Amino acid sequence: MKHIYKQGQISTKPTLLLLHGTGGNEHDLLPLGNLIDPEASVLSVRGEVLEHGMPRFFRRLAEGVFDEEDLIYRTKQLHEFLNEASKEYGFDRNNVIAIGYSNGANIAGSLLFHYENSLRGAILHHPMVPRRGMELPNLANVPVLITAGKNDPICPSQESMDLQNLLEAAGSAVSIHWEMNGHALTQTEVTAAAGWYQQTFSSR
Ligand code: MLT
Repeated sequence: MKHIYKQGQISTKPTLLLLHGTGGNEHDLLPLGNLIDPEASVLSVRGEVLEHGMPRFFRRLAEGVFDEEDLIYRTKQLHEFLNEASKEYGFDRNNVIAIGYSNGANIAGSLLFHYENSLRGAILHHPMVPRRGMELPNLANVPVLITAGKNDPICPSQESMDLQNLLEAAGSAVSIHWEMNGHALTQTEVTAAAGWYQQTFSSR
């Protein structure tokens, strides 16, 4: 998969997996990664699906209606890409924390839903429930932060609450931060994410 890898200054720090929103690319979230943890390694990936020329991480049938078969296939592909990249670049595969926005948050959520040890934690900005009616793996050691808009027309607040409940039922410690700025990724939620990251991972 097309990507950017930046080796961090401290090898015991996590690797931040950056996953952009629809129409974005692997450059979009680099400043955000730097804000969350400037010493961490960064792996920023471009989605391989094109929707009218706009990169995404999986196909959708309509807005908010996912192509489940493609979602499962692309989730596996990303999981395997992480396995390979960890060998190629020499980062700790067990210390990957995803930061995703919108469609990127949805594929990160799908990694959590399908693979027990793919992520050590996740920051999901404006996510939805990637798939319903499935059994989740044990996520007892996988903390998650959701940031969402109470008035988000693309990722309705109920989706964020359902996602929180499903992740918690699988054992994850989930925090949720609410905004009132629609689907926009705002400075205040990124600051909230940085605070959550520091609190959650600095002592481990
Ligand atoms: C999705 O398709 O993943 C969501 O609707 C968010 C987006 O518009 O990318």
